[in-house]
Amino acid sequence: MASRRILVTGAAGFFGSRFVRRFAATDEILATDVGDLDIADATAVGAVVSAFRPDLVVHAAAVAATAFCDAHPDVARRINVDGAVALARAAEAVGAGFVLISSEQVFNGNPEPGPHAESDLAVPDTVYGATKLTAEAELAAIVEKLWVLRFTWLFGLPERGCGMSPGVPWNIALALLAGRRLAERTDEFRGITYVHDLLDRFDAILDCPPSTYHVGSANDLSRFELAKLTLDAFGVGDRAEEVLTPVTGAKRRDVRLSHEKLARAGVTFPPSAEAIARCVAEFRFTV
Ligand SMILES: NC(=O)c1ccc[n+]([C@@H]2O[C@H](COP(=O)([O-])OP(=O)(O)OC[C@H]3O[C@@H](n4cnc5c(N)ncnc54)[C@H](OP(=O)(O)O)[C@@H]3O)[C@@H](O)[C@H]2O)c1
Repeated sequence: MASRRILVTGAAGFFGSRFVRRFAATDEILATDVGDLDIADATAVGAVVSAFRPDLVVHAAAVAATAFCDAHPDVARRINVDGAVALARAAEAVGAGFVLISSEQVFNGNPEPGPHAESDLAVPDTVYGATKLTAEAELAAIVEKLWVLRFTWLFGLPERGCGMSPGVPWNIALALLAGRRLAERTDEFRGITYVHDLLDRFDAILDCPPSTYHVGSANDLSRFELAKLTLDAFGVGDRAEEVLTPVTGAKRRDVRLSHEKLARAGVTFPPSAEAIARCVAEFRFTV
């Protein structure tokens, strides 16, 4: 594949930093984060995009912390919606393709159980989910070549020079290392995806026609069951009672995604359990 000019936002974050590292050898990448390009500054965004003239924008910058977004809806909207719109307008002006990273959390308020398909009406009940869904709609009216990738919850383990964020294996590793218990819900269901499984398939996803896709690994397990599986993968499955407290939330939460659309296009992911095992094995992580 010929080298592409890719503008990455959120390049210091969990996904963006690993994306840049993965594609730096094959593509010409302009890696930006809030310190050098604040996506809420439309003038700066326009100047950077028109100077770099990317073939592709991978827009990973966001405020992704749900509680922060609920407490600061204006900030969330300014970055997750207005920032995405400014970037999309600038990208469209130079004819670039655009990857908007969205989230399973657009389905947070859906009353029916998952897995949810791309064609299902999404009902977000958090500011974060609502800003992602609004950005999807606004960008669809701006960008011709738009891939909206709704990720499930990503996970990985710490890597030199890369950002880190909470995920099932890392949360459990931290609890084990600190000797504290972890409360995990028995009534919450969501896909979890190993970030390197995603990067392995990123080009294959972009070979699919521009559209909205549900991306990642699936499972039918509760978070509590996923946590137990992870303890098994760490080789300490016998410590489940000592480490995990099963809890329930105010309401059942099911943001599982159906991945059939991508599968029909030939892109499949391993089940979450297999993905956890691969991650733990690749990092040779023992606790
Ligand atoms: N990780 C997941 O499980 C997951 C799942 C579904 C969707 N997503 C989406 O995937 C994308 C990447 O997620 P991630 O986990 O890598 O998030 P992350 O680690 O929080 O990375 C996002 C990056 O964007 C930066 N940023 C925030 N405001 C900005 C601004 N105004 N201008 C430029 N950069 C700004 C952040 O900087 P600061 O840290 O300094 O704020 C951070 O470095 C996000 O759009 C997220 O919503 C992630």
